[in-house]
Amino acid sequence: MSTLSVAQSPTALDVERLRGDFPILSQRVRNKPLVYLDNGATAQKPQSVIDALADYYATENANIHRGVHYLSQQATFAYERTRGRIRRFLNAADNSEIIFVRGTTEGINLVAQSFARPRLREGDEILISHMEHHSNIVPWQMVCAERGAQLRVIPVDEAGELILEEYEKLLTPRTRLVAITHASNVLGTINPVARIAALAHQQGVPVLVDGAQGIPHLPVDLRELGCDFYVFSGHKLFGPTGVGVLYGCRELLESMPPWQGGGSMIQKVSFEGTTYADLPNRFEAGTPHIAGAIGLEAAIDYLNEAGRERLAAYETELLDYATQALSQVKGLRLFGTAGEKVGVLSFAMEAAHPHDIGTVLDSEGIAIRAGHHCAQPLMQRYGVPAMARASLAFYNTREEIDALAAALCKVNEVFA
Ligand code: ALA
Repeated sequence: MSTLSVAQSPTALDVERLRGDFPILSQRVRNKPLVYLDNGATAQKPQSVIDALADYYATENANIHRGVHYLSQQATFAYERTRGRIRRFLNAADNSEIIFVRGTTEGINLVAQSFARPRLREGDEILISHMEHHSNIVPWQMVCAERGAQLRVIPVDEAGELILEEYEKLLTPRTRLVAITHASNVLGTINPVARIAALAHQQGVPVLVDGAQGIPHLPVDLRELGCDFYVFSGHKLFGPTGVGVLYGCRELLESMPPWQGGGSMIQKVSFEGTTYADLPNRFEAGTPHIAGAIGLEAAIDYLNEAGRERLAAYETELLDYATQALSQVKGLRLFGTAGEKVGVLSFAMEAAHPHDIGTVLDSEGIAIRAGHHCAQPLMQRYGVPAMARASLAFYNTREEIDALAAALCKVNEVFA
């Protein structure tokens, strides 16, 4: 079987050209070329996103849904156009199912407070997994504690995959919601969301998917996934910080009370009482991050133009290359070896603590993350206080992976 490398393949990505679209990547850091491998924390922005933000502030800045004047109409049009772009990007049914939020954390809190809180009764259960980020644990703990409900946890095996037989056992008539990550920010595992959702739906249980680490790496088709809520952050998707999206199926969103009160989310206000706006405005109190939404639209346009399938295929090949390279570093233990993974490599080394690894790598111009990755229960599952993590994007290269592997060998030398 011939194995064309990405560089030779007819559908190859021109990574060097794509890198040229990201001004930050040509920087030198610590007098070395920047090797940015902290994409799981936040991704870099193409020039088109930076331009969209600057153009908005330079030519269109006004508040939306409020003004009869020209600029306000322009800004409103751009903001609502973005909503439609996101709907198409996700293959959702209706623009009103797309709610702008600050990010994944806020989206999950919205569902916890507005969907779960009024429904939960004593003895009810919310089902999450052992690989969740704190933002898909703590909001559920808070509402469970308040309502006398319980949090149940789907276990993860040594490779970092969910144990689905246990999931099926944990799904009971007490389950009110399943909240699961699309892809683990630590292990890289891609969870079988469609299967998880189908099993939950057989019992009439809705499913929320934390897409923060999934959507930057994978094309997302909500009709294929079949979940009821899908949440993600703009900044991990090559867009601005401070803007994210909550998708909710219309039927559930319509059954939910507003979460925050204020301007824009009302129909009529008097001291005797208030009526609320229809979707999606009912969940968007106050002035939103208008520029952020417009920047997110530019990021989506960029990804669509580059070709999501192509980007994902390149990244998978780069992940295989990186897995090989890291497995050759002496004393390195890789966490997360699931069959289906996004480009995330978490590891520990016998020679040094993850923070020391991060510091040595930083001196080589290589940016990774070290710590508990906002997933302390998962650290406990693997019996470590912290991990080092390299997280990839489509603009990373094999040369950068070689630089990472060489720097990790240096860690071994420094701490020998
Ligand atoms: N959740 C982000 C990460 O995994 C910040 O780094």
